[in-house]
Amino acid sequence: LTTIRELFKNREEYLDKQVTVGGWIRSIRDSKTFGFIVLNDGSYFETLQVVYHDKMENFAEISKLNVGAAVVVKGTLVATPQAKQPFEIQADEVVVEGASAPDYPLQKKRHSFEYLRTISHLRPRTNTFQAVFRVRSLAAYAIHKFFQERGFVYVHTPLITGSDCEGAGEMFRVTTMDMENLPKNEDGTVDYTQDFFGKETSLTVSGQLNGETYAQAFRSIYTFGPTFRAENSNTTRHAAEFWMIEPEIAFADLEDDMELAEAMLKYVINYVLENAPEEMNFFNSFVDKGLLDRLHNVVNSDFARVTYTEAIEILEKNNDKFDYKVSWGCDLQTEHERYLTEEIYKKPVFVTDYPKEIKAFYMKLNGDGKTVAAVDCLVPGIGEIIGGSQREDDYEKLLARMQELGLKEEDYGFYLDLRKYGSTRHAGFGLGFERCVMYLTGMSNIRDVIPFPRTVNNCEL
Ligand code: 4AD
Ligand code: MG
Repeated sequence: LTTIRELFKNREEYLDKQVTVGGWIRSIRDSKTFGFIVLNDGSYFETLQVVYHDKMENFAEISKLNVGAAVVVKGTLVATPQAKQPFEIQADEVVVEGASAPDYPLQKKRHSFEYLRTISHLRPRTNTFQAVFRVRSLAAYAIHKFFQERGFVYVHTPLITGSDCEGAGEMFRVTTMDMENLPKNEDGTVDYTQDFFGKETSLTVSGQLNGETYAQAFRSIYTFGPTFRAENSNTTRHAAEFWMIEPEIAFADLEDDMELAEAMLKYVINYVLENAPEEMNFFNSFVDKGLLDRLHNVVNSDFARVTYTEAIEILEKNNDKFDYKVSWGCDLQTEHERYLTEEIYKKPVFVTDYPKEIKAFYMKLNGDGKTVAAVDCLVPGIGEIIGGSQREDDYEKLLARMQELGLKEEDYGFYLDLRKYGSTRHAGFGLGFERCVMYLTGMSNIRDVIPFPRTVNNCEL
């Protein structure tokens, strides 16, 4: 089989020659002696017209086919200069691989993204979702390429964990215990020593703590894998299962961290612009009109930088515009993040040095004793896309902070221990991969960039 993408790309080579293409029928119509099939094979969102005729022994079978059926077509590629498509296949043979029932849910009209979410097994057969998931695939490859070219080691961190990296208590529990007959301690609490791992365990919210330990051996590492959060927030930017890229660099501070983040985002944008130009044009035409201009601007200019304290000053002056009024010490909400990046800077912005109270326990305390060496990267249309920090590398300070927050030392044994043996300055960040794909495509709901989204009340297939 050849692909429709290949036929479009190297059409001169194939014109007037025999080709074989396999795909799914987008539309079909016939007259008495011949018929037309519009075929898509997923290699490209362009379709290919197939002309078949009654000299074929299975002419009747073909003519009865419904939209969605899978066929393999053999025939000659001929130029059609007057038609919308530059060429078509004059078929010699159409083999039916799988017929389609008449209630095939994708019809020729435009379906809403909401409707398509209800058929996530079939939406990859639409143009938009073919473009989204091809770009998602390319972006994942670009991220690996970026880090591998720079000598980073890809570390597979565990998905089942006994610690809570972000300390937000938003974890999905992992257990093999019988829920109806939970073993109990004398004080009535659940006795996890009888569970599979002999302790309470969950799905990880972040690979960072494990990643840090490998950075203290390899210097530069990254993780790229699924993470899970039981955040009960039904928004367009939160999923219960999402992928995160988490680089960690030793002998490095927050400045190095931001340089790495900026270089990585620019690399990924450039990569998809170069390697998926048709898809990117498609998004620019049908999903988000300003997309290409915006992305070109991003790769050609420096990200803005502002401290949390400066950002709060800017936002406070505009408090009349917000549902949630800001003041120093509060966490930034999406409306504030978007205001900063969309109205003030009009490009990606790094916000640094947040109050320690609103950030995780592992971040390095700044000299002022009030803020930590944290960084969030905010982008137009989304808000936070990256969260990172320089890590606390001082054993005593880290221990004190953990005790302050009531974290159990025994759950973080390796992590603390690491600070005793050649601990270096180090920093890292987490890029939410889905938010990155939203940014690259202009898609506005996280459910539409995940093949099978897991969100509150939704876990289909
Ligand atoms: O800011 P977060 O919580 O940072 C961490 O997890 C750190 N351990 C990362 C690190 O320093 N290694 O999450 C990082 C990013 C966010 O900026 C966001 O893009 C994404 O992960 N993210 C989510 N994406 C989709 N759905 C959710 N529920 C998300 N929560 C976080
Ligand atoms: Mg964050």
